[in-house]
Amino acid sequence: MLHTPLRIGSMTVRNRLYRAPVLEGAGDGPDAAEAYARQFVPNARSGVGLIIQGSSCILPEGRTSPGMTCVDTREKALRLAPMVRQVHAEGAAIMLQLGHGGLFAMEAWHEPYASARTGPLLAVSKVPMLMRPAFGGVPIHVLRTDEVYDLVDRYAEAATWAREAGYDGVQLGSANAKLLDQFLSPLYNRRDDEFGGSLRNRARILELIRQRVGERAGTDYPCTIKVPVEVAPPGFRRSGRAEALELARMVESWGFDAITPVEVSVFPDTTLSRGDAPDALWTNPAMAERLRAAAPSRRRRFTLTAGARLGARRAPFTPVWNQDLFAEVRSLVDIPVFAVGGIRTAGEVNAILDAGAADMVGIGRPFYAEPDLAARILAGDPAPTKCVNSNKCVAAQMLGMKGLCYNPAVRGR
Ligand SMILES: Cc1cc2nc3c(=O)[nH]c(=O)nc-3n(C[C@H](O)[C@H](O)[C@H](O)COP(=O)(O)O)c2cc1C
Repeated sequence: MLHTPLRIGSMTVRNRLYRAPVLEGAGDGPDAAEAYARQFVPNARSGVGLIIQGSSCILPEGRTSPGMTCVDTREKALRLAPMVRQVHAEGAAIMLQLGHGGLFAMEAWHEPYASARTGPLLAVSKVPMLMRPAFGGVPIHVLRTDEVYDLVDRYAEAATWAREAGYDGVQLGSANAKLLDQFLSPLYNRRDDEFGGSLRNRARILELIRQRVGERAGTDYPCTIKVPVEVAPPGFRRSGRAEALELARMVESWGFDAITPVEVSVFPDTTLSRGDAPDALWTNPAMAERLRAAAPSRRRRFTLTAGARLGARRAPFTPVWNQDLFAEVRSLVDIPVFAVGGIRTAGEVNAILDAGAADMVGIGRPFYAEPDLAARILAGDPAPTKCVNSNKCVAAQMLGMKGLCYNPAVRGR
């Protein structure tokens, strides 16, 4: 099963293993393609079927970390074409994830970027009352209805550039508390126009993006999506599992070509990458120094590190933690379902596929520790991955460092 090709819309992937979108820290300078290729070419060469490039920002502001790539111009997107060609030459497919941080863009907390920003942060609605203290002094602009339509067009435009650059398709970064998830979430979305209220309305932006990607990039251009089940501490609104299942059916009816269901917090914390608190933020001297430069105020640093500790406490690592969710979504829809979250061994990968619980199986962090991991998984090697879910890579991402394994114990092995 693992070696059986899969059709995703108009594209075919050579097997069922994909690299989940994780930070590459490649930025968007002239060396971006090379930086991506350093990670993706070994992954492709070792046999991975599909690579989903980490979230790349559709606007010049709105990145969630300094190393995130912007694909806000055709030129920047096309710069990545040489890397896409290298990945294809190794037989793998590659999708670009399109994203925007909205309220959690780094301009909210990263002082050098906050002072250089050219406009306010984009928000779906006013900051929820309980969260206002964390946003003190940060200028916020609530998107007007016409601006939401412009945003839809921008996602579609970026998809046309992705196609031109050779990417096999796009994925919408619609989970992990990012801008599209902020539309979906009843915590962030209090709008009273056609983009607020019922789930149907909160998800309307996704329907319009799908439609517009079809019009601009071509109806045959694969467009895939993440569907979040939100978890939240008491007192915070969230969209639960029933809504996520309903959303999965909706996105299928709107023509999305594949779904990745994930259970994640309403906050941008490590519920998306369960494991330890990203302690490198305060234990690694170089990272602690970068954090001080990014967030000179003690209050902001406290908010960031407390969020990191709390998220980890609420989401300790458990193997294959989204299993029930992706299996249930797969029983409801006919388009391919992508599994992700704590999948670590060839045994787990094969069990998911053999049980018919998902069509593609994704692995994220372990690729940092083992760029040629795919060869081992595809050969059925029973040894566990080197990754120990320390989340030191998360700290590095926040601070704009390259996507690598930062755990000395793992790297030293
Ligand atoms: C450092 C880091 C960056 C990530 N960046 C993204 C991203 O850009 N887009 C996304 O949808 N998920 C992102 N994720 C989540 C991963 O795709 C994946 O779902 C998560 O790490 C769980 O899989 P794993 O246990 O195999 O690592 C990121 C995770 C980490 C650790």
